[in-house]
Amino acid sequence: MTGVHALPSDHHDGPWDAVIVDPRVKERLLATAVLVLRHGRRLAGSAVAPHGLVVLAGPPGTGKTTLAQGLAQAAARALAPHGATTLVEVDPHAFPSEMLGESQRAVSRLFREDLPELAARRPHTMVLVDEVEALAVRRQAASFDTNPVDVHRATDAVLSGLDVLRAQRPGTLLVVTTNFAEAVDDAFLSRADLLVRTDLPDESVIPLIVADSLRELAAQWPELSGLAEDGALHRRVGRTLAGLDGRRIRKTVHGALALRLETAREPSSLCAEDLLLAAREAADELAASTASGAA
Ligand SMILES: Nc1ncnc2c1ncn2[C@@H]1O[C@H](COP(=O)(O)OP(=O)(O)OP(=O)(O)O)[C@@H](O)[C@H]1O
Ligand SMILES: [Mg+2]
Repeated sequence: MTGVHALPSDHHDGPWDAVIVDPRVKERLLATAVLVLRHGRRLAGSAVAPHGLVVLAGPPGTGKTTLAQGLAQAAARALAPHGATTLVEVDPHAFPSEMLGESQRAVSRLFREDLPELAARRPHTMVLVDEVEALAVRRQAASFDTNPVDVHRATDAVLSGLDVLRAQRPGTLLVVTTNFAEAVDDAFLSRADLLVRTDLPDESVIPLIVADSLRELAAQWPELSGLAEDGALHRRVGRTLAGLDGRRIRKTVHGALALRLETAREPSSLCAEDLLLAAREAADELAASTASGAA
């Protein structure tokens, strides 16, 4: 376990708004979380009882972790009139995995003992297992790829743990993220109350991420608010950045500050040319890595 937080808490604001996705996706996520956390106990035992599982699956840098953390705070805010929410962050990298089966036992202990005890403390509890496939990775240290079979095994340990937790503490919400779309279909689909597949931002979203990243900078250096509101520039930069994930788009905007010593010293001197140059470099880098990947 890496962290136990009491929510809502002001310093957990931010992630929910930082990820730009179809608003219907956020609505579904929030609605699912609120239903499970608020009414999971009352629905327990009925044929329509939710499993209490939300899965976020998609390529790296597409906002899975940020959305999951944001969801905890957004749900906690919505439920605040009915009491506080505990967010438990489970770090799959922290499980011993030298011996076959050891990590499964540790996961089982977590779900049978630690989590039920934590879930008894506050009215609502959400458990976040970020990068669930990491449970399988270290055992595979000798090979170069994570074997989908091992990913299945790791996720199976989590899923059977979920059943135990659900029996003891209905109304606990488990949110899981994974890069492995293959592992998702079989292991998760049948139980997930909601599966969200995150993907690379499309041409309409990229300029919005550019704009949001610039607004972040403008919050520190108000002289940049002109750039932050220049929609035509965001679209131009955005066209160059097609194919990049959200993380790399944000990094490109921030990286534009470090192309010249002057902007590094005085970020308020950032200009449109800097952004366009940074975007072209990022696009060239993407093209080069795609080419070497194809070779
Ligand atoms: N659709 C998006 N809109 C805005 N920002 C985004 C989007 N997708 C990713 N980002 C930004 O990219 C950064 C990385 O996101 P995050 O860590 O949540 O991705 P992830 O899917 O969990 O990646 P990984 O699989 O590598 O763990 C964050 O700063 C996030 O705000
Ligand atoms: Mg992540």
